[in-house]
This record gives sequence, structure tokens and C-alpha cells, in this order.
Amino acid sequence: MQITPAEYRQRREKLMAKVGQGTAIFRSAEMAVMHNDVEYPFRQNSDFYYLTGFNEAEAVAVFAPHHEEHQFILFVQPKDPEKETWTGYRFGVEAAKEQLGADAAYPIGELEEKLTQYLEKAERIYYHLGHDTSSGLHGKDFNTIILSQWQKLLRGYQRKGFAPIAIEDPQPILHSMRLVKSPAEIEMMRKAAEISALAHNRAREFAQPGRYEYEVQAEIEHTFRQKGSLGIAYPSIVASGENACILHYIENERQMNAGDLLLIDAGCSYGYYNGDITRTFPVDGKFTPEQKAIYELVLEAQNQAIEEVKPGNPFNQYHDTAVRVIVEGLIELGLLVGDIEEIIKEEKYKPFYMHRTGHWLGLDVHDVGSYKQTAEDWRILQPGHILTVEPGIYIAPNLKPAEGQPEVEERWLGIGVRIEDDVLVTVDGNEVLTAGVPKSVAAMES
Ligand code: GLY
Ligand code: MN
Ligand code: MN
Repeated sequence: MQITPAEYRQRREKLMAKVGQGTAIFRSAEMAVMHNDVEYPFRQNSDFYYLTGFNEAEAVAVFAPHHEEHQFILFVQPKDPEKETWTGYRFGVEAAKEQLGADAAYPIGELEEKLTQYLEKAERIYYHLGHDTSSGLHGKDFNTIILSQWQKLLRGYQRKGFAPIAIEDPQPILHSMRLVKSPAEIEMMRKAAEISALAHNRAREFAQPGRYEYEVQAEIEHTFRQKGSLGIAYPSIVASGENACILHYIENERQMNAGDLLLIDAGCSYGYYNGDITRTFPVDGKFTPEQKAIYELVLEAQNQAIEEVKPGNPFNQYHDTAVRVIVEGLIELGLLVGDIEEIIKEEKYKPFYMHRTGHWLGLDVHDVGSYKQTAEDWRILQPGHILTVEPGIYIAPNLKPAEGQPEVEERWLGIGVRIEDDVLVTVDGNEVLTAGVPKSVAAMES
């Protein structure tokens, strides 16, 4: 299962239709150092990958729809048998052109010399300037390369009467494309969700008092790889007891005890498409009354929020619904006091619920695409959007209540619950891609 060359071509054509008389430039990710001369496994930049399907560092993709000869141009690392012996296979210039569908391909070392011809007749240059401040190509910062190309062309303006007059960020164009997933992308997301779900189910069977969080992590990540995914989509959070109240707890070192809840937030990356699932369950198979009350409340918030994920609804609606359910429930439990509208308006629930209810999901775990369409208006959900729904309640031992709110009774302290699913917006509502992991109280206790 993968994205076909035809789909990559369609994406490029769509981008180029929007770029029009401009030239767009996208750069690959770089290798990142783990320590000394050891590098992390390479992970391609998602924008670059979305347009090329090309998985190597030291590469640049150029789109020049107005150019007479070449519209899609790649700069790549040339073949080098000696280097490849050490660092692995490279596509090389010829294969990049033939197999990736480029109209022209050059060795990356020729970038500065060859790039000018694709910029000189462009009305504007589309490049995400300023973000990429790494050492760049052959020690030259990539921003500097773009700016000096531009300056060179601007110097000719008086004589020629023409030069690119602006550098514009291509992300709004590309990211609104990435936001709506194609049928093939939805299949990739389904697979990422399915493997992530298998791992959660295995983890729940495995976890028990006396085991360590890292042992559970190992079961999860074993499943990810064993089922053919690339591995983790993000560092796995295996947080027992009070650790569940730390949103990004990734040490995973504690030994679990009877009476603990275990919060697992883990997902795999399948062909770069990501799953993102959280479940919380009692390590010894039985909720305490307080744990159960909080769990049921988060589950209710999540179920009601999922109902709001449908075409036509503004993005924030499911968050607002989750907040309302949580605040109502916390008032009932005596953890918050006062008027519901005021608590919501003044955000007095935030010591318990400090994050938003979800994010776009795709090639990036926190996927791209603006949440608003104007300064005032939230984006309207449409079929093909994929997002997470992940409300939680966290009663940290050192929780500081909002002004005018009561101190939390001891019996609640240390409880942290989050429930997270990946949800596809469909024509008539939604589909929970991660429905393969149960979440009822009974299932969490079994
Ligand atoms: N695992 C990251 C998140 O849930 O957003
Ligand atoms: Mn998550
Ligand atoms: Mn998430």
C-alpha cells in the first residue's frame, strides 16, 4: 500500500496551478546528529515528501510552471558508490529524473548555478524563508542562497524591467491541500490507526502491577515494527499513577502498582502517515470510585465531542462541547464550584484541562493547515479532514485551583485520564479510524 506516482503528479499539478507565474522551492529535511558522528534515522520533511515521495536528504525540489522546458526540477545527491557503501543507497540524478517524474534533475552541488534559470522569469518566489537556519548546503545557509539569488535578479530589474518582486510563503497553498486527505491517504491513515490499535490492545493485556512502564512501551513499539510500520509517530507516553498528569511524560521508567491508572499515548507512523491514540485504564483491572468518576466524565466528553465532528461544523465546536461536558461534570463532583458559564468564560477549568481537544492529523502528527479561515472564523470541517479527539482531566498532586475555586480533596489527587481517537470527517458525519481499541469502562476493567 502506498501513494502512486500518479497521485504525486496530481499534487504537483495542483500546486503549480496555484503558483502560476511564480517559482516554488521546497527543501528536504537534513540529517540530525544523535551524538558525535552518529545520526538519527532520516525522516523526510513532510511538505517535500508530499510533493515528491522522495526520501533522501540534501535535496531541493523546484516548481516552475511558467518555464518553457522544465516545470518540476530536482536537485539530489549524485550516485557515489564509495559513500553509498557506508551510508546506504542513493537514487542519484538519473533515477531521480526517471522514477520521480522530474523534467530535469541535477546534482545538488550545482544548485546555485542552475537555479537562476528557473527564477529569472518568475513573478515571485515561493519559499518558506527564515525557518530553515541550519548549516544548509555545503556550509551555506539555505536562506542566504535564496536571498542572494533574488538579489542577483533584482539587480537586473532596471535593465530588464522584470524580476521576481516578492518572496511569498508557499505553506498556505500547500497546507490547505494537505489538509484534505485523498482516498489513498485515508487508506494509509487507516493502516496507521489499525497498527496503533493493535499495539494498544496488546499493551492493555500485558500491563499489570509490578511491571515497569518501559516494558509496556516495548510491547507497543514491538508491535509497531512487527506489523510493518516505520515505528513510533512520536515518543510513546506510558504514564502510570501521577505521571499521567504530565502531558508529555516520556521517561517511562516507573514500576506500576495495584491501584494505579495507566495512561498510554502512542501511535505508529505508516509510510509517514501517523496514528495517535490514548487510552487510560486501571493497571489491576479495577477502577477506584474516584478514578471511575473521572474516567466516565472524560469518556462522555469524548463521545459528545465526536458527535460534533461532521461537515459544516466549525473546527472549535467539538472542543467547546468537550469543555462544557467536563465543566458540568466537575461541578457535579464538587471539584469546581459556581456558575458554568462563568467558569467556562474565565477558564477556571484550566487547572484540570489545560490543552485543546484535538489537532489535525496526517503526515505530521500535529498536522498542518490553519484552524481558522479568517481572524474571527474557524475553519469549517469538510469530508477528508482527519483530526484527533482527545479530552482529558488531570488532577496533579500539586494542582493549584483557579481563583475562588476549592482546594481538591486528597482522594482525587494524582488521577490523570485522557482518551484519544483519530476521526475522519465523512460526507454524512464521521468515522472513528481507531475504533479497534475499546474504551468502555467494562473493557478497560477486563
Ligand atoms: N501524542 C501527541 C498528541 O496527542 O497530541
Ligand atoms: Mn496523542
Ligand atoms: Mn494527539
